[in-house]
Parts: sequence; structure tokens; C-alpha cells
Amino acid sequence: MASTPSDSDLLARAQNILVGGVDSPVRAFRAVGGAPLIVDSARGSRVRDTNGKEYIDFICSWGALILGHADPDVVAAIADQAARGTSYGITSPLEIELGERISRAIPSIERIRFVTSGTEAAMSAVRLARAFTGRDLIVKFEGGYHGHADSFLVDAGSGLATLGISSSPGVPAALAQLTLNAPYNDAAAVEQIFQKYPGKIAAVIVEPVAANMGVVPPVEGFLESLRAISARDGALLIFDEVITGFRLWYGGAQNIFGIKPDLTLLGKIIGGGLPVAAYGGRRDVMDMVAPLGPVYQAGTLAGNPLAMRAGIATLTKLEAPGFYAELARKSTRLADGLRAALKDAGVPGEVNAVGSLLTLFFSPARNDEYGKYLFRGSEPGHLDKIFEEQMRNQSGGDAGLRGPDPPTTGRNTAAASAARKTHAGQDRASRKDTDVIRERSYLHSAADFDTTISNGNFKTGELPDHVFPDNSNNSLNLHDYSAAKQSNTARFAAFFQEMLSRGILLAPSQFEALFVCSAHSDADIHRVLFAASEALRSI
Ligand SMILES: Cc1ncc(COP(=O)(O)O)c(C=O)c1O
Repeated sequence: MASTPSDSDLLARAQNILVGGVDSPVRAFRAVGGAPLIVDSARGSRVRDTNGKEYIDFICSWGALILGHADPDVVAAIADQAARGTSYGITSPLEIELGERISRAIPSIERIRFVTSGTEAAMSAVRLARAFTGRDLIVKFEGGYHGHADSFLVDAGSGLATLGISSSPGVPAALAQLTLNAPYNDAAAVEQIFQKYPGKIAAVIVEPVAANMGVVPPVEGFLESLRAISARDGALLIFDEVITGFRLWYGGAQNIFGIKPDLTLLGKIIGGGLPVAAYGGRRDVMDMVAPLGPVYQAGTLAGNPLAMRAGIATLTKLEAPGFYAELARKSTRLADGLRAALKDAGVPGEVNAVGSLLTLFFSPARNDEYGKYLFRGSEPGHLDKIFEEQMRNQSGGDAGLRGPDPPTTGRNTAAASAARKTHAGQDRASRKDTDVIRERSYLHSAADFDTTISNGNFKTGELPDHVFPDNSNNSLNLHDYSAAKQSNTARFAAFFQEMLSRGILLAPSQFEALFVCSAHSDADIHRVLFAASEALRSI
């Protein structure tokens, strides 16, 4: 059932003055039909439309709001800063502070440049990579999204996937030809491209966990191969962490996977909901940017003090012990609950989940190889090995992975209970290294499902049994854009509308992520699972 949630006069005015009634295409709800929302206000996990109807929001400004809407500390920081000036157009200590914090959390970022959007960061990084290498070609991945600069609008995800646009008119063919696409998770295809164009590729740009074709994690060895292939050929590796930065971890996905890209793109969370993004990385590369070098890039509002204050306030809260553990706990419950609800309703589909990012794909097939999928060909202990390695590489404990307690998975009972103790404020130092390592293995794997998630203050009695994970059919085999595109988008649209009518706002496209934020309460997750189990039965 399609709902018409927003005031019809406002909608008509929006359609009249704004292109398609929106300022960014996906907001028009074209992929799901029905009237788009017009939001009047938001707080915590909720947005309120102009008719006064409230929704539990899983868009969360497309991932920017990891603390939820109008977090009091972020609001206070912005208000304080506003009184000191909203824009200087000249350097302030705030840029230095945020830059240093980011560099400490993501050590591959030796120098940084703040910009105002992820698009600008990606565009600037590619210009820089071309200048540094003296080469023109770039390699990206089908279904990856790096903003709307000309070079990236070829087989891109996000809004292009939603609208079924494979590339955009207006991009000169000569420029589009410089962008080479490979299937995500296909290192052999990347190898072939490099063999075809040796010494010609400036950069490989990749989302370390893809989130713009829906959430698609990297299979074992994929990112490592990209690192090796690009290094061998003298191309730069650019990690687009606009979504993953500070989302999966205090730092980047690169910290988790233990891979050092040459350049990193950040956005969203580092601006705490204000327009901030950044690119940064190797000092020798970044030093080619003006004024140190000849690569020109500038911005009137770059490093804007209001936005810097919001970013600093946000990162400060992310440093709190247990922050990511708690986020992972709620996200795991949501993902497992959705899987169980799918199964119970007999609807084909799968839930790809990584940390607090997840997508319910209405994909055609099921299989029971969830754990095998994530790290195909690997032993169950694969992640433990990654983190053991990281622990070994760390000098004095926290150098490589600075930040608060790592996320927990409930991977095994010992690790889960160690995580709970930590959350309760117990002494971290008393825990064994192996427990710490296991807690860092936050990604879902087959072993996760051996453990019943601790229920905290969740009132289990109120939820129908069937929405609890029974862990027997956690199917997942969706590893690239062509697989994502097999999803039943009409079914997604029906599901979206059913959820919306129950007060749950999902991203209005099959090819986007749901973002869990710290403001989502256990009761919110409960409500979502309840709504999902009803919605899945009625579509
Ligand atoms: C991975 C990634 N890169 C770049 C961008 C572009 O960022 P912006 O919308 O701030 O231009 C996005 C936007 O969603 C993104 O998800």
C-alpha cells in the first residue's frame, strides 16, 4: 500500500521549484513509488514529516549521522561555534585538530585536505593520482559510487543504480573512456585490465566495503590483490571510505583489513551531519596539491569551522569505550532478525551485513553458505588471523588501531562475555589478547550464529518467536553488482511501502544500505523487526 505522508501543497510546490521535487535524485522515491517524504524535523532515531508523522529513520542522512539526529553534544558544539563565526575563509585551529585526530585514527593519512563533499574529495583525489603518476586511466568497480564527478558516472551504483542509469549524458565520451570498470570482488578481472594497459593506469578506486549497490563486503584476498596489483604497476590505490570511515570502526575499514591505501576519501561521519569530506594519504602524493605542488584544488567553505566543530564533537563521542561494540550488537540483532523474518515469511532474499551497514536484498536464490561467502575459501578463523597479524604489527598495543573498544560480534561465548564486561567498565588490561582479537573480528561469520545474542534490556516476550534468528538459513551469496541487480526491485518497493506505513523509513532503493546509529534503541530494533515480519508476510 502506498502512503502519501507529506503535505500535498508542499509536495506540489517542491515539484514546481525543485528538479523532481528534490535536491538529490534518490530522495524522489522513484524506485519505490508513492509520495516522497518532506521532513520537518528530526531527533535521535526519528524523523518527523510535515504532517507530524514520525518514522524510525534508517537513512540517517545516508550514514553521516552515526549518533542519530540532533545529538545534543553536536548541536551544542555547532551553536557555540556559530556565535564565534560561521565561516572564516581562512585557516582555524579546528581544521588542525580534526586533521590530527583523523590521521591518528587512520595512519595512512599523513596529510589531509578538507573539502565539502565526497564528490569533491573523489574528483580531487583522481586528479591528484593522474598528476602524480602521469597516467590517465582509472579503474573502478561496477556498482561502486564515488560521487557524481564525470569520471565516475560509468556503471555506477547508488542513485544511478536506483534509476537504472548506467552512465550519464553530458560526460564526454573521451573522458568516460578513461574509466575502466571491473566487477567488484573480481581481482582476476583487475589483473587482466592491468595486463592490457601496463603503465597506463593512474589509480584503482574502491569502496573497501561496497555500500552503493546495497552492502557487499569484500571477499577474502580481494583488497589485498588490489593493493598488490596497483603497487606492482605503480598505480595508486584509493580507498573510498566516505561511508566506511568511522562507521565500522574508529578509523577506516583499512584498519580492519590491514591494508594501507595510498589515498583515502572520507566524508559523512567526519562532518557530523554538516558538509565535510576530505582526501588524504601519502605525504609525497599529497604534497603535489597546491600550494605545495602544482595540482590545483580549492574551496570557499573548505574546512568550515561549524562543520569542523560538528566533526570533532562526533569523533569525541565515537571514542567512548564500547561505542562500536554496542552499535554492532544492535546491528547484528537487526540483521539476524531480518534473516529470520525472511525465512519465516518464505520470501527469498538475503541480508548482507557488515558492522552497522546492512541491506536486505530480495535476491532470487538462497543458499546456506553464509559464512563461506564472506571469506570464500577461507577457514572460519580467517578474521582471527587478520587481527592476530594486526596485533603483532602494533607497537605497544594500540598504535595501528587507536580508539575505543573494538566492536563485538558475540563470535563465541568467551569473546562475547569479555565484550560485555568491557562495556560494563571492567579493566581491559585484564583480558587476554585472544579475547581482544576475537572482539575485533566484528564481521558476521558462520561462527557468529552459534551464539545467541545477548538480549540486554530487550523485551523478548513481546516479539513473536519467529523473528529471532534460528541461524539455520543465513543465506548469502551476493558478491557483486550483477548479483545485486537480480534482486526483485518491485518486491523491495512493496516492502519499503509496507515499512513506511508502519513508521519505518528505509533507504528508498534496493541498492542502498540501512544505517544503524547509536540513537537506535533496542525498542526501535524490536519495532523494525516486528514491522518487517508483518510486511514480509503481506507482500
Ligand atoms: C562511497 C561514496 N563515495 C562518495 C560519495 C559522494 O559523496 P557526496 O554525496 O558527499 O558527494 C558517496 C555518497 O554517498 C559515497 O557513498
